[in-house]
Amino acid sequence: MEKKGRVVIVGAKGLVGSALAEAFSETYEVIALDREELDVTTYNAVKKAIKEMTPQVVIDAAGYSDVDSCERRSQLAFAINAEGAKNVAKAASLVKAKVVYISSDYVFDGKKGSPYTEEDQPNPLNIYGESKLLGEKYVQDHSDDYLIVRTQWLFGPHGRNFVDTILTLAEEGRESIEVVEDLVGAPTYTVDLAQAVKRLLERDAWGIYHVSNSGQCSWFEFAKEILRQAGKNDVRLVPISSADLTRPARRPVFSVLSKDKLHRETGMKMRPWQEALSDYLKRRGQGQS
Ligand SMILES: NC(=O)c1ccc[n+]([C@@H]2O[C@H](COP(=O)([O-])OP(=O)(O)OC[C@H]3O[C@@H](n4cnc5c(N)ncnc54)[C@H](OP(=O)(O)O)[C@@H]3O)[C@@H](O)[C@H]2O)c1
Repeated sequence: MEKKGRVVIVGAKGLVGSALAEAFSETYEVIALDREELDVTTYNAVKKAIKEMTPQVVIDAAGYSDVDSCERRSQLAFAINAEGAKNVAKAASLVKAKVVYISSDYVFDGKKGSPYTEEDQPNPLNIYGESKLLGEKYVQDHSDDYLIVRTQWLFGPHGRNFVDTILTLAEEGRESIEVVEDLVGAPTYTVDLAQAVKRLLERDAWGIYHVSNSGQCSWFEFAKEILRQAGKNDVRLVPISSADLTRPARRPVFSVLSKDKLHRETGMKMRPWQEALSDYLKRRGQGQS
């Protein structure tokens, strides 16, 4: 089958990058690069690579996404999440390629109390969120043809994620696991995110879009559903408050993203996170029928 065009993905071995590479390979010629092949913090290297590859689309899935580490290593967080995004956007513009930047719900402070729309004012609470917001601004400043996709609470193959953490703790034979109950978001399967990004590009969408699975829950409710679906009902979950954890980075209390724009402008409807979780567990060989 003839491929529709050339797509370069940077940060391609991460949680998001690997799902994008898988989804786009079905219909596009994909050049998947990770840090060893292309470091986004070095502009000359990014420029050279993109100029040689002449893609129609460049997706920046590179990121420093360990939210607590970002507080200690803020220079590195800004170098990858913001300067890196600027380098990719500038280089993409040189070859008139569309640039896609994967951003985060953490650009918001969580005080709104209802799902955040693309028009809501960002106000990050931590360095990670600040670096992502600056990355968004750089992309907007350096590209005329950009797509910024804000997403949240990701799980999927090829990367550190909450589902794997909970299952590992359960498999280690823990009798109880403490999980935060006062932070609310929407768990999102990277496979669903990647399909949504693909469909947005196919509709030539432009600007900022929010993408997550539908529904919402606390981390505690998420953990409960993971264990239920994996059939690990003997593990006791203990709800705790985020204040009980002395983590370096503050988190938004309620950061659910509204998908109204996605639905209104593309007709796309994201499936419930529980259904997506079930697919992921099956893929891991752990789901119950
Ligand atoms: N995970 C989430 O829940 C979540 C939520 C919202 C938004 N996002 C965004 O999604 C994007 C991808 O995050 P992720 O969750 O997929 O994280 P991840 O699994 O850590 O993947 C990030 C990838 O970027 C690579 N990378 C790091 N520094 C790089 C550099 N200087 N040049 C090129 N590649 C570099 C990493 O390579 P190494 O492994 O070699 O460092 C890794 O393969 C990030 O921008 C993040 O902000 C993530």
